[in-house]
Amino acid sequence: MNKFQEVQQHLRQQRRHWLVTGAAGFIGSNLVEALLKLGQRVTGLDNFATGHRHNLEQVRELVGDAWANFDFIEGDIRSLDDCQRACAGVDIVLHQAALGSVPRSIANPILTNETNVSGFLNMLVAARDAKARFVYAASSSTYGDHPGLPKVEDRIGKPLSPYAVTKYVNELYADVFARTYGTESVGLRYFNVFGPRQDPHGAYAAVIPQWVAALINDAELRINGDGDTSRDFCYIANVVQANLLAALAPQEAVNQVYNVALGDRTTLNELYEMMRAELAPRFAHVAGHAPRHVEFRAGDVRHSQADISKAATMLAYAPTHRIADGLKEAMDWYVQDFARQGRAAVAPSKS
Ligand SMILES: NC(=O)c1ccc[n+]([C@@H]2O[C@H](COP(=O)([O-])OP(=O)(O)OC[C@H]3O[C@@H](n4cnc5c(N)ncnc54)[C@H](O)[C@@H]3O)[C@@H](O)[C@H]2O)c1
Repeated sequence: MNKFQEVQQHLRQQRRHWLVTGAAGFIGSNLVEALLKLGQRVTGLDNFATGHRHNLEQVRELVGDAWANFDFIEGDIRSLDDCQRACAGVDIVLHQAALGSVPRSIANPILTNETNVSGFLNMLVAARDAKARFVYAASSSTYGDHPGLPKVEDRIGKPLSPYAVTKYVNELYADVFARTYGTESVGLRYFNVFGPRQDPHGAYAAVIPQWVAALINDAELRINGDGDTSRDFCYIANVVQANLLAALAPQEAVNQVYNVALGDRTTLNELYEMMRAELAPRFAHVAGHAPRHVEFRAGDVRHSQADISKAATMLAYAPTHRIADGLKEAMDWYVQDFARQGRAAVAPSKS
């Protein structure tokens, strides 16, 4: 039995009370689903800034009777009161609520800071007062302009966007809280995460859902730059695993940050071809689809690839899904979602 299986077995026998912030979002709703399926008690907090009620509806359908163990608080992490209410009686916080997206932070740095820095600080205070362990979504954007590859946790460069600043500040606050108040936190630097319920809509949609929508709808698909830009795309199941391992990690592994990815590097051109191959058997028009290359995007790093040995050693993190496995599951979900909701439901952004 590997460590993740052990942790799951332990949780089935010993129920805990979890708070998932950003519960109506992509990663948050997947965490809620996994925890409820393990018989846990879960509180969710979200203000629906970018998350959706239909994500929670889908979790309800997937978990059946376990839904009775879920409470939802519609609230805002920018309010300390809401954070404290949500943390009442909680053992472990999985803090996912934030405004993601580099371009959004360039367009609106103040709102990004209020949510990702002030909101984060509120949650950290509320978790401290509730004596809850605090596992939080950090980001690979913290590597900024550091040229080293693969990325190792203690070698970072200068941030390249307001979003990256906020995510780095999160790590600084978590570290200072551990030193000054004795809190327990674990930062998970997610690399490009993808999977079911990742939003294909809007100007700030991530690349994979945006491209799925474009391919299914036979719409224009833009690749920023020459397509040799690369990322370490990480399927959601691996991220869920990392969160649960961090939540129950031994003392010597807490108050650290960890890369959460695969340790692989896939270019945008390769990603496009993999997605096209996955969707071509299901939609005749996909075989003839071609991307349009546009300008490089401000604030984007050229290459990103994680060294995951720290998480492997300290948390026993062992990703179960390589990119092809994840893409297959994600495409299955998007195709079903497409069938369920009709073409308009996955319409790509007009902007
Ligand atoms: N998806 C990725 O590739 C990726 C990569 C690195 C880091 N992250 C981080 O992971 C976390 C989850 O990202 P996601 O991809 O699931 O995004 P998402 O937008 O789907 O989820 C974020 C959730 O937070 C909620 N939220 C935003 N502001 C809030 C506020 N003020 N109060 C309460 N709730 C609020 C949103 O409504 C949404 O449901 C974020 O912290 C993000 O920065 C994501």
